[in-house]
Amino acid sequence: MTPPPPIAMLAELTHRCPLSCPYCSNPLDLARIDSELDTETWARVFREAADLGVLQLHLSGGEPASRRDLAELVRAARDAGLYTNLITSGIGLSQRRLQELDAAGLDHVQLSLQGTDAEMADEIGGYRGGFDRKMQVGRWIGEIGFPLTLNAVLHRRNLHQLPRALEMAQEMGARRIEVATVQFHGWAMRNRDALMPTREQAAEATRIVGEARAALKGKLVIDYVPADYHGDYPKRCMGGWGTTGLNVAPDGQVLPCHAAQTIPHLSFEKVQDRPLAEIWRNSAAFNAYRGTGWMQEPCTSCERKTVDFGGCRCQAMALAGDPAATDPVCVKSPHHGALQARAQGHAAQEGAALTYRDAPPKTAAEPAE
Ligand code: SF4
Ligand code: FES
Repeated sequence: MTPPPPIAMLAELTHRCPLSCPYCSNPLDLARIDSELDTETWARVFREAADLGVLQLHLSGGEPASRRDLAELVRAARDAGLYTNLITSGIGLSQRRLQELDAAGLDHVQLSLQGTDAEMADEIGGYRGGFDRKMQVGRWIGEIGFPLTLNAVLHRRNLHQLPRALEMAQEMGARRIEVATVQFHGWAMRNRDALMPTREQAAEATRIVGEARAALKGKLVIDYVPADYHGDYPKRCMGGWGTTGLNVAPDGQVLPCHAAQTIPHLSFEKVQDRPLAEIWRNSAAFNAYRGTGWMQEPCTSCERKTVDFGGCRCQAMALAGDPAATDPVCVKSPHHGALQARAQGHAAQEGAALTYRDAPPKTAAEPAE
């Protein structure tokens, strides 16, 4: 059966980034700078995405502003008929560049928040002066009138700043805030001791979000990604594998999700080698976990199997050693109890140091900095 088209595509334009957040969702094995797709190839991929049925294009990274051709890429995406959203830390954007992006037709900006003050944000991002710069970029975004979403990434060190993040979203004129508790893949996996929220923090965040949603209804939309290690049911990751979205990595690999490369038996096709629509419909990686046919017990006979599709395949790989296993976050998983105990163990590691993300190598010969 032909799968329905994806709604959204995430274009990871580059893995370069001035920040080095310890929870970066980029893979540990970062794409080399000299392997990045060029402007023309991205423009073709955007046209192929639109032809396939994609409606929204998320321009991401790394830091997409690290690409000098960002405005050209936005223009190409708009010409293809895609709604464009720039996911940025703000670092690398000047007032002039934002005006160029506006002229190129950029529809929306999503600005990340590493903390609500310079001390926290600059420590987490590993970039001194980053917070002040971000606030300046936020003012320019407001002046130009881009619709804005704030993306607050929260963990044990900064969860107490959630109320202030909600205030900041309103002060900055954001229409939406994503309250995203760190998901433990890639670099974040290396930082579980430093970043794992306590059970109490996770519960408090859920309470604050619930109250804020009621109080700010009609003014601010709040998307919430809870701390799932402390939960009882897993998230419906990617809306279901190969269902609503796809990622294109800087080197052209087409991935069902940002962490898919952690599943060792999968191999990924590239946009240089095959049309995007064929990869979406026919590639072995996309078909591996589509639907429910690949499931094992307890998912196979569970009434929630088309609600959460068994949770996250990459998390099942990382925590149960089997990407077809029930996500260990699920209360029905045989690994659930051990995971909750481990989460409490990580959360108790006060004073654990942060391991920052590396910079991508420039060439095959050069190791990561
Ligand atoms: Fe979801 Fe599987 Fe758990 Fe059922 S058993 S709730 S389908 S993860
Ligand atoms: Fe890969 Fe969840 S991150 S399926």
